[in-house]
Amino acid sequence: MRNKVIAGNWKMNNDLNGTVNLISELKKGVNDQTKATVIVCPPFTSLETAQTLLKDSLIKFGAQNMYFEESGAFTGEISPSMLKSVGCEYVILGHSERRTIFGETDQIINKKIKTAIKHNLKPIFCIGETLEEREKGITFEVCERQVRFGLEGLTEAELSTMIIAYEPVWAIGTGKTATNEQAQEVHAFIRKLVAKLLSENFAQNLVIQYGGSVKPENAKELLAQPDIDGALVGGACLKADSFLKIIDAA
Ligand code: PGA
Repeated sequence: MRNKVIAGNWKMNNDLNGTVNLISELKKGVNDQTKATVIVCPPFTSLETAQTLLKDSLIKFGAQNMYFEESGAFTGEISPSMLKSVGCEYVILGHSERRTIFGETDQIINKKIKTAIKHNLKPIFCIGETLEEREKGITFEVCERQVRFGLEGLTEAELSTMIIAYEPVWAIGTGKTATNEQAQEVHAFIRKLVAKLLSENFAQNLVIQYGGSVKPENAKELLAQPDIDGALVGGACLKADSFLKIIDAA
């Protein structure tokens, strides 16, 4: 049985004050009765504060991105060991905003996944098709390419901590959610593909989150689909109330 994993991607939101407020509220709602694994991904500048605030909490945390080199002349970038030094457990990689706005390719994302794993960071590896790609009928093709490239050169053992997040780009921040059937269909496809690339056993244990306008109103039904093992939440994770409702739904 796969445990549900609910992650909040804060994106470029919350300064230190906002971080203290949001995490304090979330801590009140997450306790040993909470069945889902809960992860928050604040901006880099809030990670050290998150570490302090979450010390005795069940809430886990991670970063939203990192660079694939260890150190050196890469102005503005953050390395995996820097993330480890502030206690990060997870790192989101390949988010569609990184791909489209910042030009990250499948190859770059593959390098990042490799480096993250080498440093014991658990990747939350995002994939998903654009609206144009869905309308052209190439959703499966696009997801397959992203998964194949993303996992290239990595073994089952190395990937054991990875989470995949399926996020149709047209559903991110748009209020348009994939229907339960649309999401389930792609999740089942990804699981089958991973079974082919690695093994059936690996695929059965792999957590595949759905992301794209997840909110309290649609979380329960989405999370009830057999291949949807959690959610990567953007907008609705910025208010403790709505994020906690999604966690409850899981
Ligand atoms: P959204 O974002 O929930 O605001 O659609 C999800 C994401 O980008 O991870």
